[in-house]
Amino acid sequence: MCGIAGYVGPRNAVEVVLDQLKRLEYRGYDSAGVAYRNGSALKTVKRAGKLTELSGLLGSKLPVSHLAIAHSRWATHGAPTDLNAHPHSDQSGRIALIHNGIIENYLELKEELVREGHVFQSETDTEVAAHVIGREYDSGVELDEAVRRGVRRMRGAYAFVVASADEPEKIVAVRAASPLVIGLGDGETFLASDIPALLPYTRRVIVLEGGQVAVLTPAGVVVTDVNGASVAVHPFEADWDIESAEKGGYEHFMLKEIHEQPDVVHQCLLGRLTPDNRVVLDQVFSNHVLQDIDRVNIIACGTAYHAGLMAKFIFERMLRLPTDVFYSSEFRYGDPVLSPRSLAIFVSQSGETADSLAALRLCKARRIRTLGIVNVVGSSIARECDRVLFTQAGPEISVASTKAYTAQVLTLFLFSLHMAQVREMPGVRIKETVAALRKFGDYVQDAMAGEDQIKGVAAKFKDARLVFFLGRGADASLSLEGALKLKEIAYIPTQECPAGEMKHGPLALIEPGIPIVFGATDPDVREKLASNIKEVQARGGHAIVITTSDDVTLGAITDTLIKVPQTGNTYLNALLTIVPMQLFAYYTAKALGCEIDQPRNLAKSVTVE
Ligand code: M6R
Repeated sequence: MCGIAGYVGPRNAVEVVLDQLKRLEYRGYDSAGVAYRNGSALKTVKRAGKLTELSGLLGSKLPVSHLAIAHSRWATHGAPTDLNAHPHSDQSGRIALIHNGIIENYLELKEELVREGHVFQSETDTEVAAHVIGREYDSGVELDEAVRRGVRRMRGAYAFVVASADEPEKIVAVRAASPLVIGLGDGETFLASDIPALLPYTRRVIVLEGGQVAVLTPAGVVVTDVNGASVAVHPFEADWDIESAEKGGYEHFMLKEIHEQPDVVHQCLLGRLTPDNRVVLDQVFSNHVLQDIDRVNIIACGTAYHAGLMAKFIFERMLRLPTDVFYSSEFRYGDPVLSPRSLAIFVSQSGETADSLAALRLCKARRIRTLGIVNVVGSSIARECDRVLFTQAGPEISVASTKAYTAQVLTLFLFSLHMAQVREMPGVRIKETVAALRKFGDYVQDAMAGEDQIKGVAAKFKDARLVFFLGRGADASLSLEGALKLKEIAYIPTQECPAGEMKHGPLALIEPGIPIVFGATDPDVREKLASNIKEVQARGGHAIVITTSDDVTLGAITDTLIKVPQTGNTYLNALLTIVPMQLFAYYTAKALGCEIDQPRNLAKSVTVE
C-alpha cells in the first residue's frame, strides 16, 4: 500500500525521508509529498506522479530541516492528483498528517466538520482525519493527546503520522491496523511503513501494534495506548538484507502476497458492511438502475476472467440473473449481442489490460452501462467505467495474480449481495452471509495452516508431466484458476475442466502417477465427485482432494486429503480452496527452481493486444 517515512534528529530530514520513500518505491504509488519543519512553520510540498516530480519541486538543493514526514500514495479515495496527495493539513494549517488505510466513518465526520465551518481542499478521508485531530489540538492539549482524542472518533483500518508547527521536535504516530515501524538511532528516530526504509540507518526496530500511539523525538520513542496508558515496547535487531526486507522476509513477492490475503479480505470488506450485517456499496448505480438490469456480461482476461466465472455462478444461483463471461479479446472482435438493459462488468487488477479496455470502449459506444471491478485507482478502466468498485487489495507485484483474485471474487460477491438487497430477493440470507464474510479473513488465515503439507505434496509431484484440476459447480471455476497458477509459474501443462466432462475426452490422458487436484467443497455434488475420484484412481491417477474440515466421506477414498475451514457458505468454501492451490503452484515452482515472480514470457500488465 502507501509508503510512510518520518525522521527527527540532526541529519537533513528531507533528504532522509526522500531516501526512505525511494526504498519503498517497489510497493507502487501514484503521488508523493513531504512536510518539513521550516523555521517556525511546517512546509508541505506534494505532487502527483513519481518521486522525481516531487524532487523537481523541492529543487536540487534540498531545504535543511531536522524534522520531516513523507508519504507515497497509492490512491484509494479520490484520484491521484496534487490536491489529493499527502500530507494534508487541518483547518488552522498548524498540523500536517499522512495516512495509510481507510477511515470508514469519514463521511459522517466530514459532515459534522462542514457544519462547524471547516473547509476541505481534497476528496480524501485523510484530510478529514487531519481536521478531526486539528479540532482537538485547538482546545490546547499537546499533539499526542489531540491524536489520541481524534483517533477515538475514527473507525477503520489505518495508520497516521502527524507533526505540528508548534512542537518542533515531535512526531506522533498511531497504528490502528496498517503497519508502522520505528527505527531507533543515536540521538535520532526514524519511522516507516515498512522495514526496508529503516535498514540503511538503523537495525534497532520497534513494530508498533494495533491501538498504539508513539511519540517520536530525537531522544527515542514513548508508546501509549489510545487512552494514554503507557505501553512497554521491545526493540529487536532486524538482520534481514534489504532485498528480503522488501518482501517482508518472504523469499518471493508471490508468497508474500499469498500470505497477505487475510488482511486483503479485511481491506476489501472495509466500509462495505453495516453493523446490522447488510452490504453498503455507495459507488454503484441507483436502485432503480440495478432493478432494471436484465442480464450481466462479465469481460476480463486471465485470472480476472476466472473471478468472473465464479461471479457468474453466484449471480445465476443467487440472483437468478442470466450472466455470461467473455474473454476480452473474444468479446471485442465478436460482435456481441447486447441487451440495452444489460450491465457490462470489467474485472481487472491493473485497469490497463488493452483488450479489456477496448471491450469497455465498445460497450460505451453501444451505450451499455459499465461497472469496473478494479484494483488500481486512477487506471484507464477505472476512469472510463460508469461506476467502479475498487478491490482494495493493495499493489500486487508478482506477475502471478493471487491476492487480487481473492479480492475480485469478494468484491463481485459483495456486489451480488447488494443486488439481492436492492431486488429484495427473499431467498438470499444476507445477514448470515455477511456474518460469514466478516470471519472470512480468519478462515483464509486458517487455510494457510496446511502450508507444510502442501510443500510436501509439491515436492512429490514436481516432475509430473501433466496435472489435472477438476471440480463441479463453484469448485470448477476455482480449478481453472488453480491450473493457471501452476502452468504460469511452474511451466507444467495442466488439464482443467468440470469433473463431469472427464468421460467425454480428457480421461484418455490419465496415466499411472498423474496427480489430479479436485476441488470438492460442495456437499450437493460430493457423491458425483466421489465417482469421478474413483474413475481416475482406477486408471492409476493420484487424487489430491481439497475439501472442507467437516467432510467425513472423501477422506476414505482419497490419496491425499487437504482440508480448508468450513465457512458456512458454499461460495466462500469454494473460494478458500484457492489458498492451497496457490501454495501448491508456488512450492512446485520453487522445487523446480523457476523464476517465480517474473515467469518467462509473461508481463504483469498486458497493455498490448
Ligand atoms: O490486470 P488484469 O487483471 O486486467 O490482468 C489480466 C491478466 O493478464 C492477469 O490476470 C493474468 O492472467 C495473471 N497475471 C495471471 O496470474
